Amino acid sequence: ARKIIIDTDPGQDDALAILLAFASPELDVLGITAVAGNVPLALTEVNARKISELAGRSDTRVFAGADRPLMRPLITAEHVHGKTGLDGPDLPEPSMPLQDQHAVDFIIETLRSEPAGTVTLCVLGPLTNIAHVLLRAPELAPRIKEIVLMGGGFFEGGNITPTAEFNIYVDPQAAQIVLQSGVPIVILPLDVTHQALTTAKRIDRFRALGTRCGDASVALLEFFERFDEEKYGSDGGPLHDPNVIAYLLKPELYTGRHCNVEVDAANELTFGMTVVDWWGITDRPKNAFYIRNVDSDGFFELLTTRIATLP
Ligand code: BDR
Ligand code: CA
Repeated sequence: ARKIIIDTDPGQDDALAILLAFASPELDVLGITAVAGNVPLALTEVNARKISELAGRSDTRVFAGADRPLMRPLITAEHVHGKTGLDGPDLPEPSMPLQDQHAVDFIIETLRSEPAGTVTLCVLGPLTNIAHVLLRAPELAPRIKEIVLMGGGFFEGGNITPTAEFNIYVDPQAAQIVLQSGVPIVILPLDVTHQALTTAKRIDRFRALGTRCGDASVALLEFFERFDEEKYGSDGGPLHDPNVIAYLLKPELYTGRHCNVEVDAANELTFGMTVVDWWGITDRPKNAFYIRNVDSDGFFELLTTRIATLP
């Protein structure tokens, strides 16, 4: 199985991504590393453990990482995710432990001990933890198989400012460090996730599972989509983070292009914007595989049928 570390700030959509990973025998989740993002770290690390227990995977190692971005104060998104970050389902307080080791140390140690080119980092939140790894141990960059991340947006615009997507906006310096690391990078931006809408019909399929994880998925999705439904009157909200895991499982659901992606961290109006050289206008290096489209029916089919295998 492909070895992955999930770096995350759960988050309802993060939760669905973690469930999808647990439900997929092709993936070996070496650990979950929490970062501050949607809500502060003290909540995201608890949420990561709640989800692990929900899936019956209390043996998972969960680590706490950075509690703030590299150079800026933390910005959170309770307006989307609720006070706990995981509002919606009624999940018990976790009884599995948080690991003592810092998330950044865990990632570094894992990259050193696993064979080079075998560990994939799946990043579902701000890129702070990963930037710390690359700053502290730059020699490890060539040992990372791939970084697959949800973040950014270009054709669709932003979701936290008109030009910036939340994960990148929270820590643009970290994002830029990752983009310049030379590690193979796959980006699943808003341009893609806005095609994966949680319509009533799609949520009904989770309800029909009649399982604990199916019911929790319904509660997570119904809470999460209310933000977009109320604000934009859409049928369902965009489901972001599970696209990272779905891409690993079924890349044929996605199309994109190798191109240059840079993050602006200098200008007020475009602060945190991912600038994508889709048309190859510059000769800047093609540092990322930027995904543009998803087969959304195929994506939800995968998500539902996999989560159906969980308790
Ligand atoms: C991203 O920001 C968070 O609110 C979501 O969990 C997702 O990772 C979408 O912009
Ligand atoms: Ca997230």
